[in-house]
Amino acid sequence: MSVPEIRRVGVVGLGAMGAGIAQLAIEAGYETVGREVTEELGTKARDRIAHFLQRKVDKERLTDAERDSALELLSTTTELADLGGCDLVIEAIVEDLDAKLQLFGALERVVRADAILATNTSALSVTEIAAAVSTPERVVGMHFFNPAPLMPLVEIVRAELTSDEAVDAAFAVAARLGKQPIRCHDTPGFVVNRVLIPLLNDCIRVLDEARVSPEELDTAMTAGAGWPMGPCTLLDLVGIDVHVHASEALYEKLREPRMAPPARIVAMKNAGLLGRKSGRGFYVYD
Ligand code: CAA
Repeated sequence: MSVPEIRRVGVVGLGAMGAGIAQLAIEAGYETVGREVTEELGTKARDRIAHFLQRKVDKERLTDAERDSALELLSTTTELADLGGCDLVIEAIVEDLDAKLQLFGALERVVRADAILATNTSALSVTEIAAAVSTPERVVGMHFFNPAPLMPLVEIVRAELTSDEAVDAAFAVAARLGKQPIRCHDTPGFVVNRVLIPLLNDCIRVLDEARVSPEELDTAMTAGAGWPMGPCTLLDLVGIDVHVHASEALYEKLREPRMAPPARIVAMKNAGLLGRKSGRGFYVYD
């Protein structure tokens, strides 16, 4: 399979992850088209990116001119057809297999036959997503970590039928984004979530077992295990709903009890305590 030189990048879904990926792409000099379902959401993502670029200017990590030329590379749209000229499209929509299957089927109809199609899924099977298109060899996982602009790792996930060329192209793009990519196969949770999800579930169980507060647990893991942020702060950042969904997806595939989300966090999700994004999770946010 021949892959094009990657000049133009599409990002579908401009939530926290998609906006972060689009920010990385424009900072690396890629013309970038971001697609959201409404113009308001597109504008919100652009504002978020502009805010973080401005913070870099404030800290003298970026010049005014670099911020402006990065932002000029970003366009947003509500039309999937506007991704037609992209050499690589990275999907970062909701973690729902049916929604992703539908999107990849539609994407195949608008992008060129040699464009690479990547998914940022964290817990679904890249192979299952690739089955939505007639050319699964060009489908690859590009799994970024939250917050995408700050976390160095990208897992480049090879699905059952992914070509070497698509893996190499995705790896090269991640490296140009300034990341530390690794290659891995399409197994449940890939590398990091296979380890991190049961670990975070254990942390939640410890809250009740050891009868400590979220603050105490966070202090324990930052001061005693060298974590950069405590597990409750991290879960609030990732999103309680995202974690519950990922835990359920891994439990469904691996049937390991530690993968199953503890009742306490499922109750939080059901109550709408989703972490930073809803203003309240383990902690309360302004
Ligand atoms: N997007 C873009 N820029 C951001 C940002 C974001 N979401 N969040 C922060 N920044 C920028 C801000 O400008 C910020 O500076 P200001 O607050 O002054 O504006 C700047 O980055 C530095 O932020 P911090 O001071 O908060 O940075 P830090 O040195 O404290 O490190 C961290 C932050 C890198 C997140 C660190 O705490 C860390 O490594 N935490 C662990 C995160 C982690 O484990 N993530 C993985 C989650 S699991 C996952 O993602 C997998 C999955 O599939 C769900």
